[in-house]
Amino acid sequence: GAALSESSSEQAPDERRVLPQAIVIGVRKCGTRALLEFLGMHPQIKIAPDEVHFFDKDDRYERGLEWYRQQMPMSSPGQLTMEKSPAYFISPTAPGRIQSMNHTVKLLVILRNPITRVISDYTQTFTKKRSRNESCVPIEDLVIDSFSGEVNLRYKPIDISIYHQHWARWMMKFPRHQIHIVDGDRMIVDPLSELIQVERFLGVKPFLTTDNFMFNATRHFYCMRKPGRATEHCLGFSKGRTHPQLKPTVHQKLKDFFRLHNNLFYQLSGREFHWDA
Ligand code: A3P
Repeated sequence: GAALSESSSEQAPDERRVLPQAIVIGVRKCGTRALLEFLGMHPQIKIAPDEVHFFDKDDRYERGLEWYRQQMPMSSPGQLTMEKSPAYFISPTAPGRIQSMNHTVKLLVILRNPITRVISDYTQTFTKKRSRNESCVPIEDLVIDSFSGEVNLRYKPIDISIYHQHWARWMMKFPRHQIHIVDGDRMIVDPLSELIQVERFLGVKPFLTTDNFMFNATRHFYCMRKPGRATEHCLGFSKGRTHPQLKPTVHQKLKDFFRLHNNLFYQLSGREFHWDA
């Protein structure tokens, strides 16, 4: 009876670990953690707690699919298993490797304004460096090449934000309908509308409602109210950092630079965003 199921750590008899049927492939700093955690509130979705980095890191990929399966959470037959590793999006090998695991796997990619993404990426590195008392270079000196005065393509956060070049590799391996794009800027201000679209894409029953999302005025972000829990759950303090303000001239240079790349992405993906407004 009740006493027995409580003491057996609530594991249903038909639970086991399976390879993921859906993967969040990126993009770094666009809200990948929030997306996965939000989806984890759904009773039909089980999420891997950590980034697995199986398809982008050769030494992990060499461990084989059985190792990968072991990194997945327990799930029941009616449930969907998911993981997120944002580095997959920019990895040259990940698309082919994921396709050879399962060519019908569903892929999710969350994007935000590419300039905001660069600033968020810089802020993450800056915060880490400062905590180690290392010297920090102002963002303007990294995004602009001091010799040419042009946008610095060798700065990795810039390269990551050129979405179309990475997107093109996925399009060579997967049909367009197998990848769903989540609007990360929108998910910050209206998570439910984005999550409803994801539920539909994944083919799970509509479950999430406004009750699952509570705006936290101190954090300036939505936090989760998980089913059966009284208290709300927010992401860690590494999510939602304060961003530095770019010098207007540098901001303008980045806007001019990304306009063409953004338009190429809109064309290739068939999804229009308003990043250049
Ligand atoms: P910032 O910390 O720069 O604001 P990722 O999980 O891919 O690293 O993305 C981190 C970003 O998720 C954060 O970037 C934040 O803007 C965004 N985010 C979206 N929804 C959030 C939420 N509910 N709580 C905290 N951060 C959220």
